[in-house]
Amino acid sequence: MGAIERVLITKEELNKQVKEMASRISKDYEGKELVIIGVLKGGFIFLADLAREITIPVDLDFMSVSSYGNSSKSSGVVKIIKDVDTNIDGKHVLIVEDIVDTGLTLNHLVELLKTRGPLSVKICAALDKPSRRKVDVQVDYKGIEIPDEFVVGYGLDYCGKYRNIPEVCILKKDVYLK
Ligand code: XMP
Ligand code: MG
Repeated sequence: MGAIERVLITKEELNKQVKEMASRISKDYEGKELVIIGVLKGGFIFLADLAREITIPVDLDFMSVSSYGNSSKSSGVVKIIKDVDTNIDGKHVLIVEDIVDTGLTLNHLVELLKTRGPLSVKICAALDKPSRRKVDVQVDYKGIEIPDEFVVGYGLDYCGKYRNIPEVCILKKDVYLK
């Protein structure tokens, strides 16, 4: 695709990361009631991969939040577009997200979900961009660290596009700077 500068993380690297995380999650939550909450839309591909490598029974649900609108800069405003249907009272919750950038989205989600009586709320993210963090959010299952570049693919989009690219790619700057 012409808008792509280069591949940053290959399918093989993503696959290895997913398997390691799923194995840790399966061990950590063995014998516990776990609700996995995928954050739409960006988290859908990672969650689909991760869920199929998890070897314990889990409940799966989704939330849809928006923090970016159509630009590549975080507004800091988190809008809940779709909430979960699952009652998380007395259960362990694992939020599955595509990327932790400023941390604002996950910080907001954790605080919101904690008000609903879960036994624990933890975070699993495929990618981590630590250089841009604005709030200190604890990511319990942290994925691959990436530099401060705007990336697309593996669920991540620019203006709704490129989510279907199987690798994580760096977008050409002139695509979003114009
Ligand atoms: P915060 O800043 O709240 O952001 O941690 C989390 C959300 O921002 C989006 N995001 C990106 N999306 N390429 C994208 O396509 C990126 O490089 C990028 N960085 C952040 C993403 O939706 C994430 O859930
Ligand atoms: Mg997202």
